[in-house]
Amino acid sequence: MPALIRTAKEFRDACAEARRDGPLALVPTMGFLHEGHVSLMRAAAQRAPTVAVSIFVNPTQFGPKEDLASYPRDLDGDLARCDAAGVAFVFAPEAAEMYPPGFQTFVEPGALAEPLDGQKRPGHFRGVCTVVAKLFALSRADAALFGEKDFQQLAVLRQMARDLSFATEVIGRPTVREADGLAMSSRNAYLSPEERARAVALFAALGAVRTRFAEGAREVADLEKLAAQTVEARGLRVDYAELRNPQDLVRPAQADASTRLFLAAFLGKTRLIDNGALGDRLEARAAGEAG
Ligand code: PAJ
Repeated sequence: MPALIRTAKEFRDACAEARRDGPLALVPTMGFLHEGHVSLMRAAAQRAPTVAVSIFVNPTQFGPKEDLASYPRDLDGDLARCDAAGVAFVFAPEAAEMYPPGFQTFVEPGALAEPLDGQKRPGHFRGVCTVVAKLFALSRADAALFGEKDFQQLAVLRQMARDLSFATEVIGRPTVREADGLAMSSRNAYLSPEERARAVALFAALGAVRTRFAEGAREVADLEKLAAQTVEARGLRVDYAELRNPQDLVRPAQADASTRLFLAAFLGKTRLIDNGALGDRLEARAAGEAG
């Protein structure tokens, strides 16, 4: 089993020791680990002899009405998954270890954090940037791996690492999906069997928009409308369905193959997100994209 580290000081020391032997790769998570997380650990292991995972349900990135209290947790299961993926150590601090009394300094992201989830979840990316900056400062990892499932988060963190001169390279990896196309997520555990069957709506919308794009459609508003309708047809409530450029997350005048569809929708109380490039192949599957 990987060593379980609870304090920031021990994490800092373990990372420093690991870096004496060569590169260190970090996979930050909030736990309840699934194959998406494991794909990041495997990619990390290909880049560095030592892989560290953090498991921390970060309170500063949750809004007051969000699911901080109910977020799923399974530390024993997570450690077993990390073990199977060859992870050297796991940093799983309590909230007070990361945010002791008197904590008052936050990392404020810029324009990349304004649209999409930044607009729908005020303060979310400020919390994400703050905790990831702390993890980068403690670990001084050579690389940190993040999933394209949270594409905006990846873009915001890549920019943060550059702007704040972190030596840690931010690396993105493709979304891992269930057999029916649903993007893996710890929050999928909230879904009832009936909801789980309808959760494919987001991937269905991605497929519908990709097909329409392949047929020649380029009008942004038309493609966004098709996406929203496809999600709503399965009874989900759309939070957003928007086309954006991958680099600056600005809405393009016309869609091209690199343009991404960004989706967020509520299925009952559960909020699901997904995204993908319009020009990517249609037959995205867990095995095919895990890479
Ligand atoms: P969490 O949701 O646990 O995700 C941890 C990492 O796994 C993120 O980089 C996320 O994009 C990636 N991931 C999640 N589902 C994935 C999937 N289906 N395929 C590929 N990668 C996937 O994202 C967070 O935690 C937090 O915001 C964090 C960055 C840890 C900061 O608290």
